Amino acid sequence: MTPHMSYPPIALILFGASGDLVWRKLAPALFDLYRDGWLPARWAIIGIARSPMDDASFRARLLDGVQRFARHRLDESAWTSFAERLFYLRGDYDDPTLYAALSQRLQTMDGADPEATHHIFYLAVPPGVTETIVDHLSAAGLVRDPSRHRVVIEKPFGHDLPSARRLNARLRQFLTESQVYRLDHYLGKDTVQNILALRFANAFFEPVWNRQYIDHVQITVAETVGVEHRGGYYDQTGALRDMVQSHLLQLLCLIAMEPPVSLTPEEIHHKKLEVLRAIRPIPGDQVDVYAVRGQYGRGRLDGEEVPAYREEPGVDPRSNTETYVALKLFVDNWRWQGVPFYLRTGKRLPVRASEVSITFRPVPHRAFPESAVRSWQPNRLILRLQPAEGVLFRFQAKVPGPVMRLQPVDMHFLYEEMFGNRPPEAYETLLLDLIRGDTTQSLEAAWVEAAWEVIQPILEAWAARPPADFPNYPAGTWGPPAAEELIARDGRSWDLPTILDPVGATPG
Ligand code: BG6
Repeated sequence: MTPHMSYPPIALILFGASGDLVWRKLAPALFDLYRDGWLPARWAIIGIARSPMDDASFRARLLDGVQRFARHRLDESAWTSFAERLFYLRGDYDDPTLYAALSQRLQTMDGADPEATHHIFYLAVPPGVTETIVDHLSAAGLVRDPSRHRVVIEKPFGHDLPSARRLNARLRQFLTESQVYRLDHYLGKDTVQNILALRFANAFFEPVWNRQYIDHVQITVAETVGVEHRGGYYDQTGALRDMVQSHLLQLLCLIAMEPPVSLTPEEIHHKKLEVLRAIRPIPGDQVDVYAVRGQYGRGRLDGEEVPAYREEPGVDPRSNTETYVALKLFVDNWRWQGVPFYLRTGKRLPVRASEVSITFRPVPHRAFPESAVRSWQPNRLILRLQPAEGVLFRFQAKVPGPVMRLQPVDMHFLYEEMFGNRPPEAYETLLLDLIRGDTTQSLEAAWVEAAWEVIQPILEAWAARPPADFPNYPAGTWGPPAAEELIARDGRSWDLPTILDPVGATPG
């Protein structure tokens, strides 16, 4: 990275400042950007929340987050100069006096040259309060200038299709589309951005990137964590809204989109939107054929007993919220007709691993004798998003020796091996985009609505028929048996993430 300080002065106003996101992700990312010289010469952060805190206790809380999660080791003098620009304002989000006080604070900070400072209002709050905050910001005249005032909204954006449409319509009353930055942190991950580089900066992949050569695609985002401190939020949300509607559909779009003409935000948004529009709608009466839900019960992970979802703090003991989803989707266009995209994500799975696995069609004729191909596997391209980030290509090779015997082998590119350091955290990249006013990684209103359209039939079918079998997978396992059946019906099976399936271990 080349530090660049010529951005305009920034005031970053963090709503939800006492929450998990600010402590765990935003403060460490801002500190790392600061240490790497990426923040503009003049900047300040105002944290806003209901918790009674003052500047000193706000700084202490962020210090704790930075110490635990930042990439840079804490250096006392850097922290002191960073912390001097952190301020706290206590208030209720629906109280107009909060916004009057904020306006006053911003005017004082802007000083002599108010026109030059950019104000970024970051809503790190539960979706239910987004509208309230935006209404008040607008009433207080704080988002009047599209060139200097931006509002950041974290996913999930809305709760379903009608609420997302309502929210978008509401935002349009006060803000232009370029002022709204809808954030999905997966788009800030280097490995996710690398999908564009891999596909469109190399001539090799495009000719085989279609139904003629690709048998199917699997997208797995597996987590070992449960709901952590977020039981209250998660229990209202569930895996379909929390992960599929945003992160997994974004990954699908990047894999399936047509080559862009340029990398402008409009062009990338347009190409991704085309994919969502081509996804075959799931008929309401066939949801069970395409989607499986699960909820974890008690189990063991890393040798330790872990509680059931229904026993987690903040979760209703009779909750029917899903912590696991598996889906089969089709993209109805010339490139992908008939190629299934299998998506799955879940909490309390055996390993933390996010991978896209692209399985190619078998060779048209196998000339090798049966004895040579006992461990035969189809060619696979695996994009390892995390951990051990990289790209693997799995193909057959001859085992050295006097007889013809084939074995799958991996050709790999690993980020750490190649570049020697960890890629920056997604939030660093996204915060820097925000500071620069780059909207390429922000979600457009139309994309968000189209993503809700894809999952709306599932939301409705599941709401109408509460699950009879929850909890249906023990923590520490790969989800409910119905997820295996979903893919087995097509004569396929889920790929084990490659960190658990090193090719050398394949029986020869
Ligand atoms: C968030 C979800 O968007 O993504 C969380 O709300 C989830 O439930 C997290 O744990 C996963 O992110 P990552 O970067 O750890 O894969």
